[in-house]
Amino acid sequence: MNRKDKKRQSDIRDSKSAIWGGRFTSGPAQIMEQINSSVGFDQRLYNQDIAASKAHSSMLTDQKIISKKVGSAISDGLDTIQKEIENGTFEFSNALEDIHMNIESRLSELIGDGAGRLHTARSRNDQVATDFRLWVRDAIDITDAALMRLQEILISRAEEHSDTIMPGYTHLQTAQPVTLGHHLLAYVEMIGRDRGRAKDCRGRLNECPLGSGALAGTSFPIDRVKTAFLLGFDNPMANSMDGVSDRDFALEYLSFASIVGIHLSRLSEELVIWSNPSFGFVSLPDTFSTGSSMLPQKRNPDAAELVRAKTGRIIGALNSLLIVMKGLPLTYSKDMQEDKEPVFDTADTLELCLYTMATMLSEIKFNPAPMMEAAINGNSNAIDLADWLVKALGKPFREAHLITGSLVKIAEDRECKLEELSLKDMQAVDNEITEDVFRVLKLEISINSRNSFGGTAPANVRVACGVARSKYL
Ligand code: ARG
Repeated sequence: MNRKDKKRQSDIRDSKSAIWGGRFTSGPAQIMEQINSSVGFDQRLYNQDIAASKAHSSMLTDQKIISKKVGSAISDGLDTIQKEIENGTFEFSNALEDIHMNIESRLSELIGDGAGRLHTARSRNDQVATDFRLWVRDAIDITDAALMRLQEILISRAEEHSDTIMPGYTHLQTAQPVTLGHHLLAYVEMIGRDRGRAKDCRGRLNECPLGSGALAGTSFPIDRVKTAFLLGFDNPMANSMDGVSDRDFALEYLSFASIVGIHLSRLSEELVIWSNPSFGFVSLPDTFSTGSSMLPQKRNPDAAELVRAKTGRIIGALNSLLIVMKGLPLTYSKDMQEDKEPVFDTADTLELCLYTMATMLSEIKFNPAPMMEAAINGNSNAIDLADWLVKALGKPFREAHLITGSLVKIAEDRECKLEELSLKDMQAVDNEITEDVFRVLKLEISINSRNSFGGTAPANVRVACGVARSKYL
């Protein structure tokens, strides 16, 4: 290289370090450490890593692959490490990459050479797959408990409002009167399905990858059933290559979480609408709303809006892991280290959202008067009139629909309610109509008549609350 070329290259280097700033000045080794290290986030797996290592070491001892003496030194050392991590004295090192290497390295400081025997018949590939499954399993249990708590609050509020009348909507246009209790119980059912998905996901993930080795199994006489059993798994995974490369369980957890997020987001959206003063159906507790820095009359439903928005983040996490996994050949690739942050973030976000929603719903004030007012104003009893024409006068439903439509138009033109038309007005449209029709136009009667299975009648709602209690709580 001549002098001119050398000068040009050093100019390029200088301009690069100006671009990258001071963070990468010490060269490739440091850049590698920065991109490669996961201990900053995967230290959250420490409990699972220690439990899995203890199970592995106990199995190695029972199988006489390591001595009892080494086995018990490993177990004591791991207990010490657990305490150090819990009391904050453990020193995590980025140079040691991840939680697995950090723990193993500390173990060898504590017990010496014996630590090196722990990794017999094991690879970080089956180790991380096992730890992560255990972590996701715990996360599912925590989410399920939070979902049940939310169901409990919804059921109590539904019992309280089994006969509170509100407008039911389709296309967000007033459709038919419903009871608030019935509306709230719809969410209890949605959450019931979420919990079903959690259970399915937990059942499928509860197989143990430990003992898969790097990918092909091992020549040591290990007992995979024993380690699986010690860690609360139902059985060992059947195929070692699948064992180290599968992340379906994380994808399933994120899919389940995304659907929960969607349900919470829909409920949030309803609270945002219902708390708008034009509706006035709910008053949010002071603790869950904020004022505007400029407009003194405002009470903003921030908590509901944030739960709605955080759903985007959960769906984003699902997307990100789907994309990480989609082109990976079997078996393990380092890409899979990117599986943890979306899952950790989702578990934290979901817990926060469920806690927020449960607390908000238990404190929210429902306002029956504006709900009733809105139900009356929307002529939501039009279907009762049409049904009466069918039942009392034997008309085909399509004709009844037409007659009712004409009567609604007349009421709208006169700016009155359907039940405020006179019998003469009604008979002008269809002369067979009798005085009896006015009975079915009362909202209370309309609501009570919706007593088919799964319908909105207060009597149904009271029974449904009891059924939901025994089914879900
Ligand atoms: N930190 C790694 C991860 O989370 C552990 C597995 C590393 N395995 C390997 N062969 N480099 O994926």
